[in-house]
Amino acid sequence: MSDVSHIAVIGAGTMGSGIALTSALGGKQCTLIDVQQSQLETARAYHDKQLSKLVAKEKLSAEDATNAQSLLSYTTEMGDASDADWAIEAATENVEVKKTLFQLMRDTFNDEVVLATNTSSISISDLATAVEGAEDRVIGMHFFNPVPVMKLVEVIKGVKTSEATTNATIALSEALGKIPVPANDFAGFVSNRVLMPMINEAFHAWEDGVADPEAIDSIMKLGCAFPMGPLRLADYIGLDVCRDIMMVMYNGLNENPKYLPNQKLVDLVEAGKLGDKSGEGVYNYTKE
Ligand code: 3HC
Repeated sequence: MSDVSHIAVIGAGTMGSGIALTSALGGKQCTLIDVQQSQLETARAYHDKQLSKLVAKEKLSAEDATNAQSLLSYTTEMGDASDADWAIEAATENVEVKKTLFQLMRDTFNDEVVLATNTSSISISDLATAVEGAEDRVIGMHFFNPVPVMKLVEVIKGVKTSEATTNATIALSEALGKIPVPANDFAGFVSNRVLMPMINEAFHAWEDGVADPEAIDSIMKLGCAFPMGPLRLADYIGLDVCRDIMMVMYNGLNENPKYLPNQKLVDLVEAGKLGDKSGEGVYNYTKE
């Protein structure tokens, strides 16, 4: 478990592509896997753009950028990464999807490989039940968006996660330039338990007419020193992701109504207005 050299990242969405870029910049070979070829192309374009930006800003030499590019590969077949010595699942926030992927991961990678998940809210112990015999290698390794910039990795042990798996996760997080911080296995862990109700409350404030979205965001930026206001951040994270995390917390924390997603948030998701990724959410990003 010690010298990780090849990381398989499963899921090439925003988080998966960010984790892959961070891995390559950390000198690790990284295979990004997704069932959708188009998603892999988007990830590759994101990587090329970010690496060029780093070179233009003289934060990375052209040689190191080329080296990072050469460490990255993209495939629709998990089997192409069967020699990976670490796996991070970063697929959609759905328990059944993740459990199916975990079984595939257990069957693809060798018996030493840590099976980490970037889940933002789902119970690690529950996910581990999908891979009987490998529960000790399952752990939460929760990165933050944008992954290359945000320092935190929230590390969550399941009931059967071994000490060796935890120590190796801490070591890898640090090797990638991150700061690992432990949290216990409750729905939403610490980050989303605190962040999502605040975002949800901003929707309630908007719905009640306390202020319009621009004013809510300005107040929280200027008065509380947030880099983004809560509604702008919700668009950035994805409104569907925010809704799904609220529902995982509602179901996982005794159906406490304080975790029910605000109706305006739900309505936007159902209208396909998901935030930055769809071009419109709380704000419209297609306007000039
Ligand atoms: N990928 C890589 N680098 C990025 C990036 C991306 N997607 N977006 C921005 N950056 C880099 C820029 O290149 C720039 O680098 P530099 O300092 O070397 O020039 C730096 O970040 C700052 O970017 P900008 O100057 O363009 O813009 P800002 O100063 O406004 O910063 C931000 C952008 C870092 C996104 C900042 O607004 C921020 O910190 N926002 C809050 C983000 C946040 O809260 N994330 C957590 C979300 S919750 C989560 O992920 C958990 C999940 O479970 C929901």
